[in-house]
This record gives sequence, C-alpha cells and structure tokens, in this order.
Amino acid sequence: MNSIFDRCSIRKFKKEALKKEEIDLILKAAFCAPSAKNCQPWYFIVTEDPKKLKELSEFSPYAKLLAQATLGVVVCADTTCNPSLDYCQQDCAAATQNMLIEAKELNIGSCWLGGYPNLDRVQKLKTYFNLPENIVPLWMVAFGYPDQEATLKEKYKESKIRYE
Ligand SMILES: Cc1cc2nc3c(=O)[nH]c(=O)nc-3n(C[C@H](O)[C@H](O)[C@H](O)COP(=O)(O)O)c2cc1C
Repeated sequence: MNSIFDRCSIRKFKKEALKKEEIDLILKAAFCAPSAKNCQPWYFIVTEDPKKLKELSEFSPYAKLLAQATLGVVVCADTTCNPSLDYCQQDCAAATQNMLIEAKELNIGSCWLGGYPNLDRVQKLKTYFNLPENIVPLWMVAFGYPDQEATLKEKYKESKIRYE
C-alpha cells in the first residue's frame, strides 16, 4: 500500500472543506484498528468549526497548525471496557495511524498532535468538551487538503532490525 510509504505529516492546509464521504472514510478506517480484547476503546470528537479549531489549537504549544486545518479529530479513550489506559492508548494509537493512512489514500494531509501522557493537555481537552470520567482525550489529529509539498523522511534502517 503506497500510502504507508508516501505519508508524511502535513502542516499547511487549503481552506477548502473536506467532503463528507472523505471524513466518513477516515473515521471508518479508525474503527478497523485492532484492540486489546477487541474492546475498541476509542471515541472520536470531530469538528470542522473554524472557531473551535482555533480555540483547540491552544491545547498544546505544538498544535498551532490546527487553526488552519479544516477538520480536527480528538482521539479519546473510553475506559469502560478496558480500564487500563495503557492498553486503551495503544489501541487508540493504532486507530489514529489508520486515519493518517486513509487520509493519505484520499490525498488529504494530516498531522498527529500529541497530548497524552502530557496531563495538562489532556485536562485542557477534557475541560473544553466537558467529558465524563470514562472518556479520556488522548490527542488530536489535524486534517485538510495539503497546501505544501510532501517531504518524506528516510527512516528505514536495517541496523534497527535483528534477524534471528
Ligand atoms: C505521538 C505523536 C505526537 C506528535 N505530536 C506532534 C505535535 O504536537 N505537533 C506536530 O506538529 N507534530 C506532531 N507529531 C508529528 C511528528 O512530528 C512526525 O510524525 C514526525 O516528525 C515524523 O514525520 P512524518 O510524520 O512526516 O513522517 C506527532 C507524532 C506522534 C506520533
């Protein structure tokens, strides 16, 4: 799948809104992720509202680019099924990666914006959305049509693999 090899973080976006079908596909891809005990402990808060995206871009010092994005997704862990946040966040990371790859497949740019384990950022999101105890906002992802060239980093290093 070329989108795995061709994906890179995109931090500049066009103003044009994403199509509803594209947003649906990105979210459906998230739900395809594997999860411990098949708990599927994810919960997604989705917004296209420019005012909210601007406000949310303050949740972390490294999230400013969210203000220019046309879609923001807060990836949350719902700890109801699996009370281990350690497991939930692994599952949610898998779901997040699926979204990034599906976005690339649709020629949509994306950037993961870190939150957890920075509890200050988690708390800001929790307060902003007034979330119940069982819903832990982990991080956000910014999406939009790319307004920059993709710059792929060379990451493959055989020295990081041990063949037995
Ligand atoms: C857990 C995690 C947190 C990240 N947080 C941020 C962030 O807060 N702001 C940002 O601009 N990029 C963030 N990134 C994107 C990384 O900087 C990026 O993935 C990395 O530099 C590799 O580049 P690539 O995505 O283009 O391959 C994050 C990525 C991950 C996986």
